[in-house]
Amino acid sequence: MGTDGTTRSLEQAVFGAPVVPPGRPAVWLTSARRLLQGFHERLAPPPVRILEALFAQLDAHVLRVLVELDVPDQLVRPASMAELADRLELDHDSFERLMRYAAARNFISIDRRGRVRASGITKALQSDAVAPWRGWVRFATSSWFDDAFRNLGPGMAAEGPSPFEAAHGTDFFGYTNDVNPDAGVVFDQAMSAGAIVQAIGLARILKWDGIGSVCDVGGGSGAALDVLQRYHPHLEAVLFDLPEVVGRSDFLAGGQADRRSVGGSFFDEVPAGHDRYLLLAVVHDWDDESAVSLLGNVRHAMGPAATAVVVETPRADRPVHDFAAASDLLMLALASGRERTAQEYGRLFSTAGLTIQDRHLLPSGATAYEVAMTR
Ligand SMILES: C[S@@+](CC[C@H](N)C(=O)[O-])C[C@H]1O[C@@H](n2cnc3c(N)ncnc32)[C@H](O)[C@@H]1O
Repeated sequence: MGTDGTTRSLEQAVFGAPVVPPGRPAVWLTSARRLLQGFHERLAPPPVRILEALFAQLDAHVLRVLVELDVPDQLVRPASMAELADRLELDHDSFERLMRYAAARNFISIDRRGRVRASGITKALQSDAVAPWRGWVRFATSSWFDDAFRNLGPGMAAEGPSPFEAAHGTDFFGYTNDVNPDAGVVFDQAMSAGAIVQAIGLARILKWDGIGSVCDVGGGSGAALDVLQRYHPHLEAVLFDLPEVVGRSDFLAGGQADRRSVGGSFFDEVPAGHDRYLLLAVVHDWDDESAVSLLGNVRHAMGPAATAVVVETPRADRPVHDFAAASDLLMLALASGRERTAQEYGRLFSTAGLTIQDRHLLPSGATAYEVAMTR
């Protein structure tokens, strides 16, 4: 791929609009926001900070209600408050109060004439958005997600079940695949949004010439492979995930000859002989022992010239209020995994017999580690 400008116009051609901001500016913007957020928080007296922290959960409730009511799709065109409330058969006053809060948070916007319009956030929640972020809203506001967090305290006891197991009597993937498959569908949709954003970054940044086949290990719905094939149509794509997950994916629905899916567990074995393996947000789901076991199976599947690309967001060495810190708590409440520092990733790869060849900062702020067999 050529310059960032070339890839941006390709993005326009592939998706009809730019989806992911250019790499470096996106990362600078994140740093600037963190700095300003630090000031904003330090300036507030402690009681205000406590209330702000508690009221932050209202954002999640409002996003959930907007998605439940299908407000984002109702805002393909601007509409008056009354028109929208009537269309949704809602009490006008209640609806206006909800929309006022939503506008104050930029989830929607209200113009000078009082008409409700889609904001950038509304557009990202529309059902035809390139990356389906409404899946994340459904996932992170579901009762089963909440139940795991309610068990965070008891689930941290030295002995006994993890928070998720205390809440649901089984682990996360047992729950989403066997106990409550509807939760699995919601989880796959949520993961697709992030996978699409990461895949656009990988499509732009990595070299794909000379790569014939790519296997996405723990690839969920196959959304990342779909993006990569749109950018690089010469690629043969193999989706590998648990049988239930590949079974409900529509990755093969279009009948493309250059796509295959394989159901199985990466703790048993990984399909062998592909040029590049992807592991997007997979390693962080697991403790060190399991992570080394699955990375070892990827190494075993790789030929001497193959590479694996592990995408994760390394945790800072010191406490920082960022995506990795939040994701670390998600891993504690929902899975048996953790977010790791860059050094911890280095040690994990080397224990699994892998050496980092290159690393790339993606526009999302995640790092793509290109690793190969240690010689
Ligand atoms: C956090 S999701 C990431 C999905 C996708 N890579 C992405 O970036 O959106 C982890 C994925 O690992 C899959 N997974 C969990 N256990 C697995 C196993 N034993 N073998 C294969 N895949 C597994 C899950 O089904 C899920 O799709």
